[in-house]
Amino acid sequence: MSNTSVAIASDHAGYPLKAELVAALGELGYTALDLGADGAESVDYPDYGQAVADAVAGGRAALGVIVCGTGLGIAMAANRVAGIRAAPCWNTTAARLARQHNDANVLALGARLVGSEVARDCLAVFLETAFEGGRHQRRVAKLG
Ligand code: RB5
Repeated sequence: MSNTSVAIASDHAGYPLKAELVAALGELGYTALDLGADGAESVDYPDYGQAVADAVAGGRAALGVIVCGTGLGIAMAANRVAGIRAAPCWNTTAARLARQHNDANVLALGARLVGSEVARDCLAVFLETAFEGGRHQRRVAKLG
């Protein structure tokens, strides 16, 4: 991946895990574009899902990572932005297939559903796995 910027954001429920994933991105050789939240104060997850989606759709980042309590609400928000395919993932198989088959460009994680080790593994797999194209290209095109 030539653009190694990864946009990342969370709501308050995802903030501690997001902080861990920002560090993990650095360890993996990526530049984290941290779009908040900046603490445990209660915020609204749609604002943060949209911020990451806008960064990816606008080319400021190659991929995105979003975290809320479940990974669901923030993924719904991100998926309202054209060109975004945000995939809630709960294990490395989901993360791998989201890239290989769906060309997902945003990884959504639920801090109340997955532990930090699983989340870090999902992140690494998501970043290192390429889209397979082929028959999946036609299907992904229909999502547009
Ligand atoms: C916040 O309490 C919680 O609703 C949010 O983090 C997320 O789980 C929503 O989908």
